Amino acid sequence: MPKDVESLKQSERIRQTILTKYGEIPLSIWRIDFSKNKLVHDIEETQNKIAEQKHKKWIEKGLYDESLYERFSMSSKSVRGKDAGLSIFPYDVAERIIKFYSQTYDIILDPCAGHATRMTAAFNLSRNYIGYDVSKRFMEHNRKVLKELWSNTLVKPEIAIVLKEKSSEYIEEPTDSIDMVFTSPPYYDTEYYGDEPEQLGWNKTYKEFLDGLKRVMMQCFRVLKPNHFCIFNVNDFRKEGVFYAYHNDVIQLAKYIGFIIHDVIILDWGSSIFACFASQIEDYKVTAKVHEYLIVMRKPEKYHLVWDKKIYKPNVEACPKCNSQIVFNMINEMHESAKCKCGYSVTRNIKQDGVMPREIVEAVEKTKEVRFNFDEEIKFDFE
Ligand SMILES: C[S@@+](CC[C@H](N)C(=O)[O-])C[C@H]1O[C@@H](n2cnc3c(N)ncnc32)[C@H](O)[C@@H]1O
Repeated sequence: MPKDVESLKQSERIRQTILTKYGEIPLSIWRIDFSKNKLVHDIEETQNKIAEQKHKKWIEKGLYDESLYERFSMSSKSVRGKDAGLSIFPYDVAERIIKFYSQTYDIILDPCAGHATRMTAAFNLSRNYIGYDVSKRFMEHNRKVLKELWSNTLVKPEIAIVLKEKSSEYIEEPTDSIDMVFTSPPYYDTEYYGDEPEQLGWNKTYKEFLDGLKRVMMQCFRVLKPNHFCIFNVNDFRKEGVFYAYHNDVIQLAKYIGFIIHDVIILDWGSSIFACFASQIEDYKVTAKVHEYLIVMRKPEKYHLVWDKKIYKPNVEACPKCNSQIVFNMINEMHESAKCKCGYSVTRNIKQDGVMPREIVEAVEKTKEVRFNFDEEIKFDFE
């Protein structure tokens, strides 16, 4: 990571070497021309050219100073610190997702409302919207945006937009009441949203952060109507040299809670980096990240109610023979089975006595209806 202007200049020199060696900056998305069975270089080249022209202009104008360094620093909080800007969810993406996965007058729940983009799209598309966020600053902003939306609209849509300055670890809506969940949760602590102790990522270990996110996702599962969609926008990230496959952890959490992974959409940001990570590309063999994920989850039609404080086992396990993942499918109310590609097959009882984690007990007591399917700690990649 460049620490000062000199290291940025050095990074620029390395970038030129990489361009000479590979003809382009290796990005996290590689396009292939299906008809020729060859890598497509045009888009990357165009992007790189645009980046380079900008870069040259800055140098010519003598702008290669601290302010430029600030701009390069936009990609990580470890460089940009508390006061840096925040990534705003693209309005067009919010609009397309809402149009595609919901109907007019549906109720959309956004457990991490952020900077009002999804709320605005919901308003414009006549959906009801409930947004939770613990950030005082963002919610103040969101309330202002909402006021403007209502006052600037001549024909008022017959919808309700509700903003709750509360943690979505404790969602208040009834079970099976929400038509769609759509959000962009924190990317651990790589962005700064506020000092509120309920912030899922700030001042937490990654494990603590995921535990909080798990509670949020469990609430999303509970309140969502069966067969309806829950969409999370997430991005993998690198921190202090460690790669966090965050999208994978979210998928694991989702399965763990009982969601069906319905689809994965890649958001291609398209633009190449300028100089910021050039040194890392060659030194550590890492590509420049130009994509993000939309994880599309679905709540199953039928899910188990837990009244008797029995627990369910995770439905994905490592095969004891070959260690690849095996998925258990329900045969009847009491049994489920799994078959591995190596030939190993197993049938087991679904219900087992066990100790309920605190949050499940709380959720059950609150709602009396929560599906629960894990009896052991989930293992994440970083562990
Ligand atoms: C990725 S940001 C959203 C910004 C995003 N780019 C956007 O505009 O959609 C994640 C949001 O989650 C919020 N958040 C963090 N912990 C939360 C919690 N426990 N409950 C509700 N919201 C939370 C943060 O305050 C932040 O606004």
